[in-house]
Amino acid sequence: MKNNNVVLIGFMGCGKTSIGKNLANTLELNFIDVDQYIENKMDRTIPEIFSKKGEQYFREVEKKAIETISEESGYIIATGGGAILNFENINNLKKNGTIIYLKAEIDHIYNNIKGDDNRPLLQTDNPYDTIKVLLTERENMYEKAADIIIDVTNRTIVDIVNCISNNLKEEL
Ligand code: S3P
Repeated sequence: MKNNNVVLIGFMGCGKTSIGKNLANTLELNFIDVDQYIENKMDRTIPEIFSKKGEQYFREVEKKAIETISEESGYIIATGGGAILNFENINNLKKNGTIIYLKAEIDHIYNNIKGDDNRPLLQTDNPYDTIKVLLTERENMYEKAADIIIDVTNRTIVDIVNCISNNLKEEL
């Protein structure tokens, strides 16, 4: 692999954490989830951080977390879906990592997140429409940031992990 870390980006519910854990096992690398890191560090859940301090504060904390994690080597890094909103995050992650965009269609995302109350941005009257709006806003940013784009819609984790491993071998 050209770089030391593999960074997973993509919309909420595309499977970054579950795919990341499986990929880490397969490639025998360490796994870190940026949201989990933030929750441990702050001793608060993501919904608590959003409700007590607001989104802007969360983005600052997220930026610092990514700055720190980007210094590591040998990690599969699962980012939060909004990590691409700040170009500094991508610059930091790119310094030492290959960026993989897990691209998913809206229905796939909706099926994965419906009924889940852990995503503050999707606690709206119509989460499907909210996903549509956010995905439209972000799609270009994910694609621009990515070294590799993997379509994950309606595919198994094993299939996706094999596909990522093969793509990474080609990066050698
Ligand atoms: C967010 C995605 C979430 C979490 C926060 C904001 C976003 O992470 O960081 O709720 O802006 O897309 P997941 O993508 O892991 O759900």
